[in-house]
Amino acid sequence: MELFLDLHTRVPRQGPGNDASTAQALRMLGELPPQLHILDIGCGAGAQTLALANQVNGNIVALDCNQCFLDELRQKISELGLQRKITPMLGSMFDLAFPDNTFDVIWSEGAIYIAGFEKGIQDWRRLVKPGGFLVASEISWLRRDIPAELETYWKEQYAGIDFISAKIAQIESCGYAPFGYFVLPESAWLEGYYGPLLANREAFLAEHNNSPEAHAVLQEMAQEMALYEKYSKYYGYVFYLARKVA
Ligand SMILES: C[S@@+](CC[C@H](N)C(=O)[O-])C[C@H]1O[C@@H](n2cnc3c(N)ncnc32)[C@H](O)[C@@H]1O
Repeated sequence: MELFLDLHTRVPRQGPGNDASTAQALRMLGELPPQLHILDIGCGAGAQTLALANQVNGNIVALDCNQCFLDELRQKISELGLQRKITPMLGSMFDLAFPDNTFDVIWSEGAIYIAGFEKGIQDWRRLVKPGGFLVASEISWLRRDIPAELETYWKEQYAGIDFISAKIAQIESCGYAPFGYFVLPESAWLEGYYGPLLANREAFLAEHNNSPEAHAVLQEMAQEMALYEKYSKYYGYVFYLARKVA
C-alpha cells in the first residue's frame, strides 16, 4: 500500500480526471450562491480542488486520509496564494464530524468507491444543505455486452461497478434528485492519469532501488492500463450530479 501511495505522489491526479471535466460538472450546477462552502472528499493532491478554487468564491474543505497528498496540496496552495479558499483537512470519509446541512456542495472525484457509491451518497447526504448538490465521479459500465475478462477484473477490484442507470437509481433512492451525468473523455484517463504515472516510472523505481515490490506495483498498474487500452468503450468514469431533496 505504501508503494502504491508513493507511486501516486508527485503526479497531479490520483485517478482519472481533468480540469475540463471538473469545470463541465461545475457549469452543470447552474447558478450558484455567491459564496460556496464545498467539501471535496478524497481530494488526493487536490487537482480538482484547485480547479474549483479558481472558479468559485467561498471555501473548499479538501479532505483526505493520506497526509502525503495533503502535503502536496498545501504546497500548491501556498504557491498559488489560495490559503483563504482551500482548507486541507486530514480525515476519513467514514467519519465526517461536521454538523448536518453544512455544505452547499459535496464534491468527490474518483474516491466514493472507497466507501461504496451507495453507502457514500447515503452517509454524506446529511452534510448537504437542503437544495444543495452532490457531485461525484464513479467508474461505471457504459455498455451491456461486457467481455468476461473485463468483468472478472473489475468485479475483483470493485464489486460496486455498475451501469449508469443503476447508479442513478441509487442516487434517487437515497434522497436526491439526479439531474445530469456525463462520461469523462478518454483523455482524462490517458493524459490526466496514466500518462503522468508512466512518466514517473523511472524515478519511482530508482527511489525504491529497483525492488521487486516496486516492480510488482508497476506491473499491477500496467495490467490496469492494458485493459483500459483494450476495452475503454465498455467502461469509464462518469460524473453524476444530483440535488438533495429536502
Ligand atoms: C483515486 S484517488 C482520487 C484522488 C483525487 N480526487 C483525484 O481524482 O485525483 C482516491 C483518494 O481517496 C483517498 N482516500 C482513501 N481512503 C480514504 C478515506 N477513508 N477517507 C478519505 N480519503 C480517502 C486516497 O488517499 C486518495 O487520495
